[in-house]
Amino acid sequence: MRIDIITLFPEMFPGFLDGSLLGDARVRGLVDVRLTNLRDFAEGVHRQVDDRPYGGGPGMLLMPGPVVACVEAVQALDPVPGRVVILTPGGRRLDQPLVEEFSRAGRIILLCGRYEGFDARIRETLGAEEVSIGDYVLSGGEVAAMAIVDAIARLVPGVLGDDESARQDSFSGADRLVEGPQYTRPREFRGLAVPDVLLSGDHGRIARWRHEQARAATERRGPTSDRTRPAHQSHRSAS
Ligand code: 6GU
Repeated sequence: MRIDIITLFPEMFPGFLDGSLLGDARVRGLVDVRLTNLRDFAEGVHRQVDDRPYGGGPGMLLMPGPVVACVEAVQALDPVPGRVVILTPGGRRLDQPLVEEFSRAGRIILLCGRYEGFDARIRETLGAEEVSIGDYVLSGGEVAAMAIVDAIARLVPGVLGDDESARQDSFSGADRLVEGPQYTRPREFRGLAVPDVLLSGDHGRIARWRHEQARAATERRGPTSDRTRPAHQSHRSAS
């Protein structure tokens, strides 16, 4: 799996990329993460990459020239062009099925924004997709890129010690349930006992109990998209 990250702040990444699971996967050649500094594609003495929005308004936008030149140069580094993903709060909300798609793509290029956003022609020119990691605003796409790299890397075969643990994760498997409660030693902690069923040794009963707990935990959580949807659009409302 190759992941290219285009950013104005490459210095934010080394601690993350060298961390235990991902650092290990990179050393073992399972995940190839490359950083490219967008500033290297800026032109002029001022190395400008952003400018004020036409029509007025606050902040600065990334300019199409340097961004498109940078993405095209990065694409040319590998025979697989890869999916180009623009990180922006207004994009498609990331979820586990989308992470699985990315992990199957073989290569993705993550474009981190800063300032107020991107000139709209960047997405059009590159045929890029826009992705968000949730309904809140980050000051740039870098933290979102780290979340996406982390989520993809753990799906790459061999990255996790036990491939079964990725299949058993929350949001994985056919029913996309979150995990229910789990317990380790001691058997009793501050008056709270581990449920008897987990000590029964009856694997069928344990599996059924876990599935029921996962179903209940998923149900309690409610639909993911509902919490941020205006009330009049909620599935709970009458319309
Ligand atoms: Cl991808 N970028 C920014 N700036 N904020 C976000 C985001 C991305 N996803 C959620 N909030």
